[in-house]
Amino acid sequence: MKKSKPLAPLGSLIWTLLGAMVVSLSSLRAQDNSFGRQIDSLLHLMTLEEKCGQLSQISWQGVSKLGALLTDEEQALVRQGLVGSFLNLSGAVPVAEAQRIAVKESRLHIPLLLGVDVIHGFRTIFPVPLAEASSWDPDLAERTARVAAIEASAAGIHWTFAPMVDIARDPRWGRIVEGSGEDPYLGSLMAAARVRGFQGKGLLDSTSILACAKHLAAYGGAEGGRDYNSVDISERTLREIYLPPFKAAVEAGAGSIMSSFNEISGVPSSANRFLLTDVLRGEWRFNGFVVSDWTAIEELQAHGIAANRADAGALALNAGVDLDMVSRIYQQEIPNLVRSGRVKEEVVNEAVLRVLRAKFKLGLFFHPTRGCTPERETTAVLTKDHLQTALEAARKSIVLLKNDRSVLPLSRHLKTIAVIGPLANSKSDPLGPWHCAGKPQDVATVLEGIRSHVSSESRVVYLKGCEIEGDSVARLSEAKKLAGQADAVILVLGEGENMSGEASSRSNIDLPGVQNELLKAAIEAGTPAVLVLMNGRPLTIGWAAGHVPAILETWFLGVQTGNAVADVLFGDVNPSGKLPVTFPRSLGQIPLYYNHKNTGRPFSEKEKYTSKYFDSPNTPLFPFGYGLSYTTFFYSNLTVNRPKIGMNDSVVVSVEVKNTGKLAGEEVAQLYVRDVVASVTRPVKELKAFRRVALQPGESKTISFTLNPTELTFYDLHMKRVVEPGFFKVYVGGNSVDGLETDFEFVAN
Ligand code: NOJ
Repeated sequence: MKKSKPLAPLGSLIWTLLGAMVVSLSSLRAQDNSFGRQIDSLLHLMTLEEKCGQLSQISWQGVSKLGALLTDEEQALVRQGLVGSFLNLSGAVPVAEAQRIAVKESRLHIPLLLGVDVIHGFRTIFPVPLAEASSWDPDLAERTARVAAIEASAAGIHWTFAPMVDIARDPRWGRIVEGSGEDPYLGSLMAAARVRGFQGKGLLDSTSILACAKHLAAYGGAEGGRDYNSVDISERTLREIYLPPFKAAVEAGAGSIMSSFNEISGVPSSANRFLLTDVLRGEWRFNGFVVSDWTAIEELQAHGIAANRADAGALALNAGVDLDMVSRIYQQEIPNLVRSGRVKEEVVNEAVLRVLRAKFKLGLFFHPTRGCTPERETTAVLTKDHLQTALEAARKSIVLLKNDRSVLPLSRHLKTIAVIGPLANSKSDPLGPWHCAGKPQDVATVLEGIRSHVSSESRVVYLKGCEIEGDSVARLSEAKKLAGQADAVILVLGEGENMSGEASSRSNIDLPGVQNELLKAAIEAGTPAVLVLMNGRPLTIGWAAGHVPAILETWFLGVQTGNAVADVLFGDVNPSGKLPVTFPRSLGQIPLYYNHKNTGRPFSEKEKYTSKYFDSPNTPLFPFGYGLSYTTFFYSNLTVNRPKIGMNDSVVVSVEVKNTGKLAGEEVAQLYVRDVVASVTRPVKELKAFRRVALQPGESKTISFTLNPTELTFYDLHMKRVVEPGFFKVYVGGNSVDGLETDFEFVAN
């Protein structure tokens, strides 16, 4: 084995050698942020083992019962420079100890990089990403990510494995909850906003954390919606549907990317050089680092493309995975692979350079703990401001799916309100999956929210009714009786927080357990009823949609759940959320998404031999972009400012939106385009722009969108991005189905 290079006097030389970098943070900001010189010096001093150590990430075992902050093995690995990064290590005290060992006791004093899944808040838990996408408000997503970064960084975290930017067209897939839904345009805006929020003004700011757009790529395309399953899609679908949010995240400056578990057409992502190098680095000029998903490198053996761990390591590193999450293959196998010539040392150096560059950018060489202290850790979380942002986010994430006879908003002076359902008083489920340091005690339940909103003369009676997933119907008749005695019944039904997220796919997306029976029993009473849904994916709620007069989709709203839901139930807030994903009528329609192709035999009622089902309409229960308000909006006067545009022109699309109801409200006006004839088939509609507009009763506003030829481009037969001459239809409205229509022509000049 190659001997370590001598380094004496230990400890001081490194700082002398790297003296140029020990400068004030402000002058650092002005430097070339590649820190090339310092990294080269450091690389020169490193043994192959130390280099591969920097490419190795392990998961913290946690504080032992005896109070040991790191296990003996963890300490030894850090001391020997055989691990460069931990995941799940957080907390001011453990972080300080881990960094002390790394910086003071390892030969080269290289600080650790510490990553955690901070997905929708750290301690102040915000709505799950799918819910937040229902706000159609990227600025809000940026602000919630900023708060998450402030809280996480105070606990010593440098890096989050977020945003999850996978497009999901299959609600069976449990991880649909972690992303922004089915649309690449909305998904791209949300992806970029969250990257900006996490990374803040710059990574040297100690409240910023490094973002990681994941999972590259097409993880959401898993066959059958089963997590980790194979994906087989065309390069066109990959580029047009699944990749845009990643590109947007890279353009927003995301410091890292995670490769996905799945294969695409025979190539697992962690060995996919086309994705990780040709596209990511070649086409998009990404200069951060790529981390594998958890043991994904090891799993190349199970995929059947690597015969052993060494093969797997060589494939992954050569494809472009820089950091090995948990497999420990890079640390254990790569040094020998380099010695035997199967992996070039330059490839290792390049990966190390990327990882070290991130550590420099985060300022870890200067402040290994980035100023995190037990005091900062406790005072940074759950502040008044953070809770206010959480309330705003929760309110904006709620989607009103149905409101017959204006059942909502309810009066807060009703004599008796029955609140029924297994989620009504749950403290833990509203946190949703991936709730990081969130605690049930921080959550306002729906029942608590209702109780605090009604007037003192109102009586709120509560019955759980059944378990989320159980099969006992013992309390159903009680539910009917209670509903019958009330002036209004609010049913809070849906999924448990563990029913979506990773490894939580479902083959049936109905309300679980006997909840539909509970709902039926309560509705039979004939009392005005509201269904409050709490879930991490679209559900098949056909019976409810046909029989319950009012339905609110609330997803998982985080700590402010009860307050936001009650604000909407009693009309303090007029709901304005819009679905970022299609709700199918039945499981058999899946995958169902708005931007589908027309086919050669589009649906026709009259003609049998067209694309349809024998036993179901093609249409969804609720379409993408859909969401009602307590007021009504009327769209008129859709115009384009010119009938034709050329390559150097743009077209301005204007529409008038009027609030025709009695309450002030906000509407998200959406613009879709269809390329009528092209050299390859194009979707029937593609979202290209949207705008949130606030209107007083009777008020109208004209809003305008500018479209450029670049927004009309697609991949042609040769996979070149082109815009072709011809007509484009334009639709503007309050969802992906009901829009006014006009058109314009693009002419090549
Ligand atoms: C596996 C998940 O797929 C990924 O999203 C997550 O970041 C890692 N585990 C680390 O927890």
